[in-house]
Amino acid sequence: MLIAGNWKMNLKYEDIINFKDIIFDFKLDNRVEMAIFPQFPLLYFAKKNLSDHNIKIGAQACSAHLKGAYTGDVSVEIISDIGCKYCLVGHSERREFHNETNDFVKKASTLLLTKNIVPIICVGESLEIRNKKVTNQFIKNQIRECVPDKISSNLIIAYEPLWAIGTGIIPNYEEIFNIHNVILNELSYIENLKVIYGGSVNNENCSKIFELKTVHGALIGGSSLKFKDFLAIYKSAVKQII
Ligand code: 13P
Repeated sequence: MLIAGNWKMNLKYEDIINFKDIIFDFKLDNRVEMAIFPQFPLLYFAKKNLSDHNIKIGAQACSAHLKGAYTGDVSVEIISDIGCKYCLVGHSERREFHNETNDFVKKASTLLLTKNIVPIICVGESLEIRNKKVTNQFIKNQIRECVPDKISSNLIIAYEPLWAIGTGIIPNYEEIFNIHNVILNELSYIENLKVIYGGSVNNENCSKIFELKTVHGALIGGSSLKFKDFLAIYKSAVKQII
């Protein structure tokens, strides 16, 4: 399982230190990985301070180009040099505010794989698509257009319904189970594929989500900023395994 905290455009240097203090006597279980995704300028500092505690670090986005005249973009080369294990690609906020298309996601993910960084490709439907009852088809299409060709391992898909992000509302558990199942079937040729759920995961709903056999972890926004909640969610994932 993977418990991943997407800090988005929140938290600062001092919060990395606070997190380190809180994690100091917290025992991680080697069957459940913990990863955090801070803003770019914090990545190196996070890596230096947290890797002894076995917490993995990931970037929130990357360029689809390796280098060159792309002001403001960040290369997978640097993300790799820092020692990030993961990178989010095509998060709905990137799709909405930075025009990341399925084509972009595929290119960026392909580049990440060349640097041995595991792409976490984000997919998810809008409320409009859900209401039209065409979610499965929409997700299958996103998967087909986003997943790199010839990939055989090292991929995570984050299923994040857009209408569940930051709203406090989640799909019913059966829906989550079924959509994850669609994704797993679609990508059954990928070894060790993980499908994690994101969208209003909190301390109260997490144990029911982790009970679902098609869920391999969570991508957590708001609740990852409250470190006690984040650790409680992590503990709930560990309980599920035992
Ligand atoms: P929330 O957990 O705040 O709904 O955010 C989910 C998300 O976008 C994680 O990437």
